[in-house]
Amino acid sequence: MPHLQPANGRTPLPDPMNYAVLKAIHVGAVILTASGFLARGIGMLGSARWLQQPLARRLPHVIDTVLLASALGLAWQLRASPLTSPWIAAKIAGLAAYIGLGSIALRFGRTRAIRAAAWIGALAVFAFIVSVAITKDPRGFLSH
Ligand code: HEM
Repeated sequence: MPHLQPANGRTPLPDPMNYAVLKAIHVGAVILTASGFLARGIGMLGSARWLQQPLARRLPHVIDTVLLASALGLAWQLRASPLTSPWIAAKIAGLAAYIGLGSIALRFGRTRAIRAAAWIGALAVFAFIVSVAITKDPRGFLSH
């Protein structure tokens, strides 16, 4: 794992097993949150009643809490912060944009056209965050 180098070169390396488990949890939460957001967007466009079910309202918060907690744990183990690692800063900025667009799409958008546009925008931002995660480049797929 060549990227498991502490940012300041001095702090002891994290336990690679812990790191691998945390990363699997993070990527698992990424897949679940993306699937949930896709499904809720499709439900929103079709005015589906299941969107009001308690599970559909609560589960996203649980998944997103796991996503964020594992993200913080990984960044901590890498000793990486938005100040030392531009790709972390790009992920946090992307996450803020995703949350903003996502809440317009699923809650605050006044017309269906606005909600649909925000949903597509949020999915694009999500793909951008994944590309930043994989390349460790703050420009993600925009670098080509
Ligand atoms: C919607 C939000 C997020 C998505 C979609 C996402 C996606 C991903 C993905 C797909 C990976 C695996 C990359 C690979 O296999 O090479 C990953 C790893 C990682 N993410 Fe996230 N992430 C998100 C939020 C965050 C945030 C906010 C942080 C920082 C505070 C963060 C920190 C990390 C770290 C440190 C890794 C491990 C990098 C590695 O060891 O390769 N993530 N993320």
